[in-house]
Amino acid sequence: MIKIEDLRKSYGKTRALSGIDLHVPAGELFAYLGPNGAGKTTTIRILTGLTRLGQGRAALNGHDIVRASLAAKRQCGLVPQQVNLDSELTVQENLDIHGRLFSMAATARRSRIHELLDYVNLLDRRDSLVKHLSGGMKRRVMLARALMHQPRILFLDEPTVGLDAQIRRRIWALIKKIQQDGATIFLTTHYIEEAEFLADRVAFLDEGRIKAVDTPAVLMKGVGQWAMDWLSDKGMHTDYFPDREAAVQPAGTAKNGFTLRRVNLEDAFLMLTGKKVAVPAGDDKRLHGGSSAHAAHTSHGGHGKGGH
Ligand SMILES: Nc1ncnc2c1ncn2[C@@H]1O[C@H](COP(=O)(O)OP(=O)(O)O)[C@@H](O)[C@H]1O
Ligand SMILES: [Mg+2]
Repeated sequence: MIKIEDLRKSYGKTRALSGIDLHVPAGELFAYLGPNGAGKTTTIRILTGLTRLGQGRAALNGHDIVRASLAAKRQCGLVPQQVNLDSELTVQENLDIHGRLFSMAATARRSRIHELLDYVNLLDRRDSLVKHLSGGMKRRVMLARALMHQPRILFLDEPTVGLDAQIRRRIWALIKKIQQDGATIFLTTHYIEEAEFLADRVAFLDEGRIKAVDTPAVLMKGVGQWAMDWLSDKGMHTDYFPDREAAVQPAGTAKNGFTLRRVNLEDAFLMLTGKKVAVPAGDDKRLHGGSSAHAAHTSHGGHGKGGH
């Protein structure tokens, strides 16, 4: 449904994308995971026709995004990273304008708006000005707007950024429902737990390159089963172990505080992006050594921590 071949993009001297290859089959919920500046938004902007590609090719449902750009655009809906609703207009006016842009007839627009506001549970707010809505409601209006013209593919750029945990979970449920109703979903996020919870497959993106693509379970399996976070005067460290018994032994001898937990997707990401130091010396059953880089990197994605 989404095919990307050797996609490249530079902004002046900044290389945003250095050759992306991906294939997302119909019906999949695909998460594009990476730190800020990795190139997630650039990829989505190119695929949805908002930014010109540098080199390479991409197609949405068989329509080349350059040679058949209009047809490609009709295949997809987009929820951008920044809220870009018209705040001086009502909810239903925002959706109506979008329907007009896609040449939907008045009667079709009216019934689709009703159906979608019901779907995102905002029927009672249809005549509210957008500026009076909460952050979570605005996200739901953006989801409804993106679905107006019944796209096969939905692009979601950091759909829950800035929302509190409870609202995020409600948006997750809605995203799952949209997938179950038949859409292919391409989601970017820097929230590890969002990718772990939602995605059928995940791509790890770092500095414009894909480091790995697989299911969350397979990506995590490469790391080990258990992780121990511990503190020293040099900072935070993490060690990985094949099983709980192996982890409990060194935990017993740790002087400072430590946390024993299941491995999560963040560990796999840190391992693959090369921001971990090599295997420590010694003949214990540690699979990989940790580093203080871990602490630095949890600042933008450290939500999946604390055991499962
Ligand atoms: N319009 C632009 N002009 C110049 N540089 C840009 C522009 N958009 C993005 N970049 C740069 O491209 C890289 C990737 O950015 P982006 O795709 O927004 O990353 P992400 O969405 O993963 O945070 C960053 O280094 C960013 O500074
Ligand atoms: Mg972005």
